[in-house]
Amino acid sequence: MERVDAENEKNFTKQAIGTTGGHQPAEFFAHDRNRRRRRAFRGGADPACLCRQHRPEEDRLCTGCRDCLKRPAGRGGILPGRPTRSWVYRGRVVRGTGSSLVPVPNSYLGPTIHVKTGQKVRIRFNNHIPDESIVHWHGLHVPAEMDGHPRYVIPQGKSYMYEFEVRNRAGTYWYHPHPHGRTGPQVYGGLAGLFLVSDDEEAAAGLPSGAFDIPLVIQDRSFDADNQLVYLNGQMMGGMMGRMGGFLGDRILVNGQPRFTLPVATRPYRLRLLNGSNSRIYKVAWQDGRPLVIIGTDGGLLEKPVERSYVMLAPAERLELWADFSRDSVDSQVGLVSLPFDAGMMGGGMMGRGRMMGGGNALPNGAGFTICRMHIQRRERSKFSLPARLSTISRYRPQAAVNAGRPRSFSLLMRHMAWTINGRTFQMEAVAADERVRLGTMELWEFTNPGGGMGMMGGMGMPHPMHLHGKQFQVLSRSGVRHAGYVDEGWKDTVLVMPGERVRLLVRFDDYPGLFLYHCHNGA
Ligand code: C2O
Ligand code: CU
Repeated sequence: MERVDAENEKNFTKQAIGTTGGHQPAEFFAHDRNRRRRRAFRGGADPACLCRQHRPEEDRLCTGCRDCLKRPAGRGGILPGRPTRSWVYRGRVVRGTGSSLVPVPNSYLGPTIHVKTGQKVRIRFNNHIPDESIVHWHGLHVPAEMDGHPRYVIPQGKSYMYEFEVRNRAGTYWYHPHPHGRTGPQVYGGLAGLFLVSDDEEAAAGLPSGAFDIPLVIQDRSFDADNQLVYLNGQMMGGMMGRMGGFLGDRILVNGQPRFTLPVATRPYRLRLLNGSNSRIYKVAWQDGRPLVIIGTDGGLLEKPVERSYVMLAPAERLELWADFSRDSVDSQVGLVSLPFDAGMMGGGMMGRGRMMGGGNALPNGAGFTICRMHIQRRERSKFSLPARLSTISRYRPQAAVNAGRPRSFSLLMRHMAWTINGRTFQMEAVAADERVRLGTMELWEFTNPGGGMGMMGGMGMPHPMHLHGKQFQVLSRSGVRHAGYVDEGWKDTVLVMPGERVRLLVRFDDYPGLFLYHCHNGA
């Protein structure tokens, strides 16, 4: 069988010059802490031992994982019992404030990077995993060579220097590996972390901060009887459907932990949700039906809070919630859930791999479950009230697009058992004529998900979260199917296009020339 290429990455290009400078250096490692005693996990990746402690001073040297393996059962891992081997990003601040790298407790997740708009960062990425890799700063507006295009991959033992100025507004961005064809397994193996940007506008909004500003990174994983990660399973159909449809795990982890419960007080919180899963979509809602109060999306704060009864959160998308527990009673719990929905045949829905195709997935895409729980533990009075105004977003005018009325259109199609954009699969450097854009212009783009494809899989739709590297865009309109649960009011870098749906967006190509990717974020 021909090679199945599920990434569907495409390049787009533009011309001009950008500059970088450097202060605030940090060093960055993708660790394989298990080189000596590695055991392959299914799917071919080679994860290391999961370490709970990420004390920065330990992060300089990385030699095997004797410590981790000696840790008593239940203390070194994700599940009770044997520790789970995984990969992990670790970092230390070389110069600058120590608080710019904050470890995520009890997690394989990389340290959370805290920066301010306008700050210059220098990060050396040292690749210690037995695979080529490169880091992509998802959502950040950086020069092409700093963006983690797969053509910049480095092998084990080599390093890549990142230097850029943070030009994004305040928001919840993130970082993950981006080697071609290996992104899925590397993210799955544990490589991902948050990149939080703050600025004055955000500070002026008066939102809960510090211990009341809490990221929730939602991911799904599957484990074998030995507590080790299981990736695409070996079965012919399961593996093939997995590569086309993307991996779905049967355990939901939040911040790297199963059955995650957040102890909270009777006051408002800012919750930053990131869907860090390979392919699972969450239909996020509060279990008791209270409305979600949304204050931010991929590219930071909305102008004003909006309410939804639920929100679809596709892979790589972020959602910021105002969560006020002041009317909850002490000792009660509120669940954050994913409601059931129809993900389509290829989307790994109930009718797809879950049952019909025998892929053996115990938790199909679209199944309902609890993501995590808030446990109201103590009473606290706070003066915080929901701000009526959060930020200023200047809306792009569709007439200002250079191709107003003639959208640059991209069709998401299944061809020869592979997902394509306008019939094309990933090219490392080649750029098609309809993928060239002019620097300094604003364009109207259109993604169409016809909801099917050719051949055996014809007619079976799949949701596609479409991501543009290096910029934030504005969703102009949606048509085709009526789906609720979108927050299109703010800045986005990833947009969910459901089967049968057409999404139009406005995007400005500014500052940086070169090759940037756009692709579906379903990772296999
Ligand atoms: Cu989040 Cu091309 O990636
Ligand atoms: Cu896709």
